[in-house]
Formats: sequence, C-alpha cells, structure tokens
Amino acid sequence: MAKLKSRYVCQACGSVSSRWQGQCGDCSEWNTLVQEAAQVSNIFAAKHNLQGGGRRLQLVGLDSPAALPERFASGIAEFDRAIGGGIVPGSAMLVGGDPGIGKSTLLLQVAARLASDGRDVVYVSGEESAEQVRLRAVRLGLGTAPVRLAASTSVRDILTTFGDSAAPAMLVVDSIQTMHSDLIEGAPGTVSQVRASAQELVRFAKERGSAVVLVGHVTKDGAIAGPRVLEHMVDTVLSFEGERSHQYRILRAMKNRFGGTDEIGVFAMEGHGLSEVPNPSALFLTNRSEPVSGTSVFPAIEGSRPVLVELQALTVRLASGATPRRAAVGWDSGRLAMVLAVLEARAGMSFAAAEVYLNVAGGYRLSDPAADLAVAAALISALAERPVPGECVVLGEIALSGEIRPVAHLGLRLKEAAKLGFTSAWVPKGTTPVDGLRLSEFTNLRSLTEQLLGR
Ligand code: TYD
Ligand code: MG
Repeated sequence: MAKLKSRYVCQACGSVSSRWQGQCGDCSEWNTLVQEAAQVSNIFAAKHNLQGGGRRLQLVGLDSPAALPERFASGIAEFDRAIGGGIVPGSAMLVGGDPGIGKSTLLLQVAARLASDGRDVVYVSGEESAEQVRLRAVRLGLGTAPVRLAASTSVRDILTTFGDSAAPAMLVVDSIQTMHSDLIEGAPGTVSQVRASAQELVRFAKERGSAVVLVGHVTKDGAIAGPRVLEHMVDTVLSFEGERSHQYRILRAMKNRFGGTDEIGVFAMEGHGLSEVPNPSALFLTNRSEPVSGTSVFPAIEGSRPVLVELQALTVRLASGATPRRAAVGWDSGRLAMVLAVLEARAGMSFAAAEVYLNVAGGYRLSDPAADLAVAAALISALAERPVPGECVVLGEIALSGEIRPVAHLGLRLKEAAKLGFTSAWVPKGTTPVDGLRLSEFTNLRSLTEQLLGR
C-alpha cells in the first residue's frame, strides 16, 4: 500500500491544503486546519465502485409520470409543519442546533410517536448509552413506546444491523459528530469523518427507503459543525433554535427538497419534554396589562403564520463624555444603529447622550425590516417616556429618507392582531383597512414622533 500522505483539512469549511497554516486560506478562520491522512479518494473510489465497470443509466423524459413523494406524518403537528407536511421515505434529514437545545428530546418524541403508531423506528445514540436514552424516554412518559434503541458510534455496525433484515421506516442517528466510518482514517467529528459517515448513511436511506435523520451539533458561528459540507448531501436541513434560558424552541427548515423552507414549528421545553405551541402569538407577548413606555408590539410573519412579538427598548441617560452603549438582543445591531441615525437626522430625536438597549421578548429573533417602525416607536417611547397605546400594533419599513414604506403580508399580520384583541394599528400610508382595527397611517418618521409625543 502506498505511504499515506498527510493533508490538512479546514474544520470550518472543509477546504484541503497540503501544508499546515494558522489561518484557512479559503474561509479565513483561525486554527481550524487539522491533519488527516490522504488517499481517502482511492479507498473511497474502490469501495464505491467508481473506477471502471459502471452500469448504464436508465434515462427518462421530463414528462414521465413521477409520483409526488409519499409522506407519513409523525403526528407531532409542529414537526410535520416544519418539514413540509410529513416524513418522506428514503430521504435524509439533518437536524442541527446548539448542544442542549433539545434535539435529542425532540427526535425521541418523534420516534416514540411514530413507533406507537406501528412504524418501525430505530434510534441510535452515539452520545448516551441505551439505558440513558431509555431513562430519558421514561421521564418523558414515553417508556412504553416500541422504539428500538442502540448505542453505537460505528456506521459499519449500524448498516450491518440492517444488512439482511428489513430497513426501519425511520433511523435516527444522534449525533453525526460521534459517528465513525471505517472507510477513511481520522477521529470522529473531523470534517472527513462526518462527511464519510453521512455519505454512507444517506446512501443507506436512498437504497433501503428508510428516512434517515442525522443530528448535528452546531458551532458558535452558526454552521452545523464542520459539516457545512453536510448540508448539500441531505434532502432537508432543519435548525432547532432558541435561547437555552428561555422555554421556547423554533424548528426551522433551512433547506427542503420536498417542501418549502418558510414554515416553522414552535415548541416549549417543559418538565416533561417539548410540547407543541399551535398559537405562538400569545406566547411571545409578555403579560401585558398597563401600557409602559419603551414597548411596542410587532406582528411578525413566520412562513405563512403571523406571530405577534413584543419589542422592548430602554434608554439610560449618560454623564457627558462617556461613550454610550448600543445593544440589541434578537434584532440586528446594524439595523438598530440605522434606525437611531434616521430618528436623529429626520425626526429630530437625539439619542447621543443615552445608552440604548433593544430586546425582543421571549427569546425570539427578528430579521424583518417591517419591524423598523415598531423599533422606532419603542425607542422614541423609551426616550420620551410616553407609552405606545397598549392595544396597538406597529409595523412599517423605514427608509433612510425617514419615509415609511409598506411591507409584505399586511393583511395577514393585521388580522392576527385583531384576532388577539388589539384594536388599533400604526401602519404605512395606503394600508387596506381590516375589520376591528382602527388604523393610523404614517408617511414619515416625523409624523410618528409627533403622534407619540402628543404634538
Ligand atoms: P437535549 O435533547 O439533550 O439537547 P441536545 O440533544 O440538543 O443536546 O436537551 C437537553 C436539555 O433539555 C437539558 O438542558 C434539559 C432540558 N430538558 C427539559 O427541560 N425537560 C425535559 O423533559 C427534558 C428531557 C430535557
Ligand atoms: Mg443530544
């Protein structure tokens, strides 16, 4: 056998370099290059029959009758909604998220539900012993579900298990970072190991018709650890998000070959596991009674669903000379700076002598520019100590000129607000009226400021 040459693989982006460098030449991350044995390609090629001896492909026309993928629902509606209606047999799914966010809990619950409905479900844990998984299931009240469990980190062992027996309807592998493929060298968790393990498991899904679910821990920068390379190997990429200190968890499709990527599933982590939250609006609003200054309510849209969220702003007067802090949680800090600048330049509101904090309640994250106006209202309200009316929602995009622009899904957002008992809305000019809501239309920030300051 030829001597194995070393190569260096970036654990962040997967690029290969022939010598070690402190910084990856491709993605510019520091200290991510790890030495791995080369020659992978030859072993891989031999095992996968890539050299010579190919077989003829069956070519079909675009118009040949192709059935839509048949799905089976898990019975957990928020999960089914996020993946586009149900699990597709023979598909590969990656569920990513921070460690401890609840991925194992979610998948154990999905597995238990499917198994209780009579489907064959196998859950392989590389992180916990079968006994630990069993104990968790008992804690979740799922101790009697006929899920088949194993603890293993060997892809070979997993595949051998189903070598001559029927493949399960669903196979959960928790997590892909603990798996080891003997096709290549290297420790579990390295990019090439994760990639090789996933490749084998994805192939198993395609060949045997099992739905394979891979759990992946996410690194700090938001990429599914190492395996950004994994995202294009699987059919569906789901991200399980939330703040660990908050109860709420959002399951979001980042990619879906069998459905849209604009739906989310909302869950709450409780003592007995994850419970579904079919009406998220009520959940992201903190208990509102008396209107207080510095808060406003924004009707957000998640997929096709409106979600009402509360924005909270706090301004603190500073002694002169100190540099004021600006901090945003759940909202882009660059966008906060922009709204502050437009308020200053176009509406005469000066925040120069104040520290500014902005928070989206409930651990929710907003990236919709339609929230600009609600952010501005919360900021002005905090600075001027004038509350936004309690029964009012605010929405609109702010242009650098100070103009207020219309936003998408206005009707849907306003109907949700009316449904939850809001009676008025501050909106961009030209908004179509909605039953039950009194609209105040604004063309620019100055008119919003005048409304809030009561001028
Ligand atoms: P887990 O599913 O192990 O996370 P992951 O697989 O993403 O690493 O979730 C662990 C966390 O969830 C842990 O901090 C405890 C919490 N938890 C609950 O609050 N209630 C429960 O019923 C369970 C099982 C876990
Ligand atoms: Mg886990």
